[in-house]
Amino acid sequence: MKARHVTSLLTASLLACVSTTALAQVQPWMDTSKPADQRAAAVVGAMTLDEKLSLVMGYTDPKELAKQPDTDVSPAIKADVAAHAIDGAAGYISGIPRLGIPSQWQTDASIGVRVEGMERTALPSSLATAASFDPQVPYQGGVMIASEARLSGFNTFLAGGANLAREPRNGRNFEYVGEDPWLAGQMAGSLIAGIQSTHMVSTMKHYAVNDQESQRTTVDASISPEAMRQSDLLAFEFVYEKGHPGSAMCAYNLINGRWACENEYLQQKVLKHDWGFKGYIMSDWGAVHSTVDAVNYGLDQMTGWPCCGDKVPYYSATRLKAALADGEITQKRIDDMATRIVWPLFEYGVIDDPVKVGAINFKANADVSQNAAEQSLTLLKNDNNLLPLKGVKTLAVIGGHADKGVLSGGGSSGVHPVGGSALPVEKGWPGSAIWMPSSPLNGLKAELPKAKISFTAGDDIAAAAAAAAKAEVAVVFVTDWKGEGFDTTLDLKENQDALVAAVVKANPKTIVVLETGGAVLMPWLNDVPAVVEAWYPGIRGGAAIARVLTGKVNPSGHTPISFPASTGQLAHATIPGFGMPGDSAVHVTYDEGAAIGYKWYDVKGFKPMFAFGHGLSYTTFAVTDAKAEAADNRITVTGTLTNTGAVEGKGVAMVFVSPADWQAASWEAPKRFAAFQKIELAPGKGQTFTAQIDPRLLATWEAADNSWHIKAGTYHIRLGQAADDLTQNVDITLPDSRWSAVH
Ligand code: BGC
Repeated sequence: MKARHVTSLLTASLLACVSTTALAQVQPWMDTSKPADQRAAAVVGAMTLDEKLSLVMGYTDPKELAKQPDTDVSPAIKADVAAHAIDGAAGYISGIPRLGIPSQWQTDASIGVRVEGMERTALPSSLATAASFDPQVPYQGGVMIASEARLSGFNTFLAGGANLAREPRNGRNFEYVGEDPWLAGQMAGSLIAGIQSTHMVSTMKHYAVNDQESQRTTVDASISPEAMRQSDLLAFEFVYEKGHPGSAMCAYNLINGRWACENEYLQQKVLKHDWGFKGYIMSDWGAVHSTVDAVNYGLDQMTGWPCCGDKVPYYSATRLKAALADGEITQKRIDDMATRIVWPLFEYGVIDDPVKVGAINFKANADVSQNAAEQSLTLLKNDNNLLPLKGVKTLAVIGGHADKGVLSGGGSSGVHPVGGSALPVEKGWPGSAIWMPSSPLNGLKAELPKAKISFTAGDDIAAAAAAAAKAEVAVVFVTDWKGEGFDTTLDLKENQDALVAAVVKANPKTIVVLETGGAVLMPWLNDVPAVVEAWYPGIRGGAAIARVLTGKVNPSGHTPISFPASTGQLAHATIPGFGMPGDSAVHVTYDEGAAIGYKWYDVKGFKPMFAFGHGLSYTTFAVTDAKAEAADNRITVTGTLTNTGAVEGKGVAMVFVSPADWQAASWEAPKRFAAFQKIELAPGKGQTFTAQIDPRLLATWEAADNSWHIKAGTYHIRLGQAADDLTQNVDITLPDSRWSAVH
């Protein structure tokens, strides 16, 4: 740690000695009154070629780097990485001290600082925070994890996962924000906005159509441009508009035959040209496959080398200089790459507010995480109001290591929690599950001090059933581990279905608490009266679960994914390459197009087990008084959300849009999610809400002239509280309109 920030400390003390005005005269890019574009152009103008090239190549593991030939990495860079990279962190890019450009210290990821050997605060999974349906939750979470990152010495966050849950078995769905473009955009965008508000740069990732982990580094995803623009890319477009990430991370896979990191269509045409992205595209670790094509088709920074078996430093100074000399790449493009990398460092305050290692208030940060969990836990079923547990005298808690902690997702986003994992963690990749040290059992004991609470591990099903039979109520915890690098089936593993079935047979008053990274099948659902989806609830997950089960907190989460009733309802019977040896060349055709999640269920007429948006409360809500007005294709919707029950709670009003004839309108599905608002209400109280509908959600994207097109006709504006609970409808007539997809 000691040597780490010598460079930035020196720069900082120099800065302190020289007045800002004097410095700005010598180094005009240090003039904070100038816009970031001017500052970026000025500093790049002052750089040597070697300095520019040092910005475009990032490194991981200094020990591995030291072994690489000097022709690939200069001794000076090796020495800089060895002296300043943070041990165990994701990546490092050398700065240019003479010009005041700091190094980039990169850390994973969406739920907190993930560094081997550093204990930090973990938020609930991103999928969980999406279930809050409150953009303030990821925003505050982003502020919190970024402040920890800064105090740990990082200035770049590899966060903002926003791939849609197109494939419910995708091992990384827990890192993403659900199946709908608008929701994903608001939630991942808010996380990024929170992170960058602290003067860090965040990515959005993994750009794009990286929707399965099986053979993720070789899979080629075929999808039509229309479908992409209306699904996966629309999600990223909304993320970009909401969060303005300074960086985008290109993915491992191929899209329509071209690697993501050299995909001209995705990088040059859509992201940089159409959306006007001014930041830099960085590669995922080991996702680069060329020098010339990657440079010419949009990749600005190769990061995380050497990694993942990748022996080729495609963006080494030697290779880039050779390509320049051969005329295969241009100096103009190198300048563009350097400018794109420094621009967000100016724009988001990384340069003007250098990071300083310091003490972290873990208690306050854990409070932020607990609040996120309490907003996100989703009550899926509650027959006869079995929950909340009130006045219960004997409780049998069973399974899921509930005596120890709560599960979290695996891979590069797996935060090592303050206090250590509650169960031993295997080293290696992806290793084994990290358990957050927050025991639901202890939480329940704290909330129900008078109750007699037993714990049974659940591996002995007969013992678990016997414990349940003796108690007034049984709570079974079931877990399903997802992680980076592998997909799963939808079944609960290790006999957990049999465990639940036996427990509910022994005691019909059984509550199931799920800790999962996505949808799972529940063959016992008809018999079990109450089910809570806790997702991966973060560092205070046990306390949050206990507070929801006992009614201290009224649940207000809504599922950001549909739960299929069977595997037969999925768009793809199997995942290509699932279970095959790594790096097998496979192909997946997304012929469901943009009809993902609830859209697919609507097209097929399937009834899911739980629909997108479903989530119960200990009170009830009603949406009334729906009105809609259109002006220039901007639809404004208003309505009233009323708490019609007996306790205070937070309800979510949801708006969907639907053309009178979706096929004639060339939509992918009968309806699209278009707006939402979460409101806290005392019993009997109502509040009006207003929402604007983004016109792209009423349109189709048309390749011929790269435009969005709303077809003239009648549109139903439907309001309610879930995809399958839309009680209000207003019809609106829209004229034909078309506008360019270029921002
Ligand atoms: C993951 C990225 C992550 C990177 C750095 C990769 O394996 O796909 O999400 O940011 O590693 O750790």
